Amino acid sequence: MGATLMTTMAASGASFLAGVGAKPGSTKKSSFGKTPDGESVDLYKLTNKNGAEAAITTYGGSVVSLKVPDRSGKLGDVVLGFDSVDGYVNNTSYIGALIGRYGNRIGHAEFKLDGKTYTLAKNNGENTLHGGTKGFNKAVWAAKEIPAKDGQALELTYLSKDGEEGFPGNLHVRVIYTLTDSNALRIEYFATTDKDTVLNLTNHSYFNLAGPGSGDILGHILMIEADKFTPVDSGLIPTGELRGVAGTPFDFRTPTEIGARVNSDDEQIKLGGGYDHNFVLSRKPGDPISLAARVREPKTGRAMEVWTTEPGVQFYTGNFLDGSLHGKDGVSYTKRSAFCLETQHFPDSPNQPKFPSTELKPGERYHTTTIYKFSTAK
Ligand code: GLA
Repeated sequence: MGATLMTTMAASGASFLAGVGAKPGSTKKSSFGKTPDGESVDLYKLTNKNGAEAAITTYGGSVVSLKVPDRSGKLGDVVLGFDSVDGYVNNTSYIGALIGRYGNRIGHAEFKLDGKTYTLAKNNGENTLHGGTKGFNKAVWAAKEIPAKDGQALELTYLSKDGEEGFPGNLHVRVIYTLTDSNALRIEYFATTDKDTVLNLTNHSYFNLAGPGSGDILGHILMIEADKFTPVDSGLIPTGELRGVAGTPFDFRTPTEIGARVNSDDEQIKLGGGYDHNFVLSRKPGDPISLAARVREPKTGRAMEVWTTEPGVQFYTGNFLDGSLHGKDGVSYTKRSAFCLETQHFPDSPNQPKFPSTELKPGERYHTTTIYKFSTAK
């Protein structure tokens, strides 16, 4: 371990490495440091009965590390993250975080609901990104271990007050992370409101199935279960069109290397600086949850499937990572060193009447589920 890392950990009181080799089927809580306001932040390490591990911090409800086996059975981390809370306070890339109230962008930082215009923070050009200036990724969540039939579970709760970041309604949010004994990370999102509002919750984990620091993700082989995507304008706001993927670099219906077309001169790829687009999932009617994507990393044999109840997934190739963030073990997070598959309702839905609605009313219960399932291939 480098001297810098040791100093950082000592300074923040973090005990990230405490409990290495934790008992299978256990959950351990330790300190992860303090926010600049002096609030204590914890780290929960969930270990399933196979020894796979998920570490989650109460700061932003962020997934800090996720260790799953490669084809030889060796456990390795597959997500970007930081050694202590400081990295989460300082980064603007939403690394591993829970995102709310509204995942992705709302155009011109405003929307109308029940005839009233709500004005939000412009934290991404003219638009609102990922909930505004202080989204759920910057909140300290209350946490408690809860029993689960099929693994280790952690419940996180947060009350987003009426008017927070410009959104209406007192919103009670509950997220349950379960690391299952079949090596899946299941994320369930629940919410209720006391006024009509809009809501789009997701998790912003950055994956590299060969491990952070192993280079770029261009050799990962990806399949996305989508016949259409939502093209964007120069501010990455959907134009409203649902465009067929056939004949475009967005056709991942057949497994294809992420890098095969990421630098093509397709107009949409250029606007995104790579992939940064919402895919319209081809869900089978009546299926409560369906496969959204499958990714395979040839060197380690690690594979991940994404299952969701959501209608869309944002496939993002880490285009804005520029090497300035230094994560766990001092690894620098360079462009395309990780990818995201953020399950969601479509960006800018509050302003797009043809998109599936993101409205939530008093008396309704918001409940969505996303599962990241890990396995290995020969
Ligand atoms: C999402 C957005 C991207 C970028 C990242 C975070 O994926 O669509 O444009 O903002 O989050 O950096």
